[in-house]
Amino acid sequence: MENRFVTPLNIKEDNEIEFSLRPRKLKEYIGQRRVKEKLDIFIKAAQGREEALDHVLLHGPPGLGKTTLANIIAEEMGGNLKITSGPAIERAGDLAAILTSLNDYDVLFIDEIHRLNRSVEEILYPAMEDYALDIVIGKGASAKSIRLDLPQFTLIGATTRVGMLTSPLRDRFGVLCPMEFYEEEELKEIIIRSAGILNVKIEDNAAFELARSSRGTPRIANRILKRVRDYCQVKGNGIIDYTSSMEALELFEIDKEGFDSIDNKILNAIIDNFDGGPVGVETLAYFIGEELDTIQDVYEPYLLQKGFIIRTPRGRTATDKAYKHFNKKRKVNTEIEQCSIDIKEW
Ligand SMILES: Nc1ncnc2c1ncn2[C@@H]1O[C@H](COP(=O)(O)OP(=O)(O)O)[C@@H](O)[C@H]1O
Ligand SMILES: [Mg+2]
Repeated sequence: MENRFVTPLNIKEDNEIEFSLRPRKLKEYIGQRRVKEKLDIFIKAAQGREEALDHVLLHGPPGLGKTTLANIIAEEMGGNLKITSGPAIERAGDLAAILTSLNDYDVLFIDEIHRLNRSVEEILYPAMEDYALDIVIGKGASAKSIRLDLPQFTLIGATTRVGMLTSPLRDRFGVLCPMEFYEEEELKEIIIRSAGILNVKIEDNAAFELARSSRGTPRIANRILKRVRDYCQVKGNGIIDYTSSMEALELFEIDKEGFDSIDNKILNAIIDNFDGGPVGVETLAYFIGEELDTIQDVYEPYLLQKGFIIRTPRGRTATDKAYKHFNKKRKVNTEIEQCSIDIKEW
């Protein structure tokens, strides 16, 4: 069975609960201490000056709370939130229409902002810098460019691929927020908070075990909580205790490290087929039959952060931790072995 249970990408069943579980205020937002502190200061400063908050770029793997933060910022700034995404804005005119519909202090959230096309992106430059929209009227020699004023708005861009942003766009964001995977203690806190909202009792050590399996990602933590709640309701007395949560995790084939089948494929391929690496990420993607983007955006960051692989100039290498996880032994380099035998004989 393909175990895609722990995918950090949004799946349909998440939608029913994500809305109710989303923190609405910065104070309720757990973890991401540095990002939160930074935003808190900038929001207060902007409010003090009665100005819009500077444009914010949120970047990091899926499921870590970027959309949630955009909602919180709009709420804290007292503006409306308009949500769109890079691929949804096809023409420059589409973006112009969105921009002119905004009011002062509104927040425009562009998800997957690295996928904006170039002509659309160019509209954003004066909009971000001067709150202005340049439009060209007429054609040929009689063409005239006029400048329209835009309201003071805040652009929030979110991306999983900050490296794919052009530098003129990246440079126009005043607040850069790199999102990190969550610590187990933070995920535990998120799980306990969510259990409260879902009105289900959970024991402390059960919450910790669920946190540990959540791949550093709140979206996965909430999904696991929901499924384990169902399990305990049917098999137990409705309370999520340690024993039944461990049974549920086992039944759902959720690994202690939060690995799914793709993580397992990646690590096993490096170990078994490329002698532990180094192997180029393109080769690896081709070998296991996954999209290169998915490997780079979704899987690799977690494996790197947890120390299961390292990135070297020649490719990805599996660490001792990865070998230990699968109970595998590193193949001794036979050339070196042969060499030392030769030396001994000599
Ligand atoms: N810091 C947090 N505290 C509590 N819950 C969070 C936090 N970050 C994310 N979540 C939960 O995780 C879910 C996914 O977050 P989301 O903002 O949609 O992630 P992203 O946009 O980065 O993919 C949200 O519905 C929310 O319930
Ligand atoms: Mg999102």
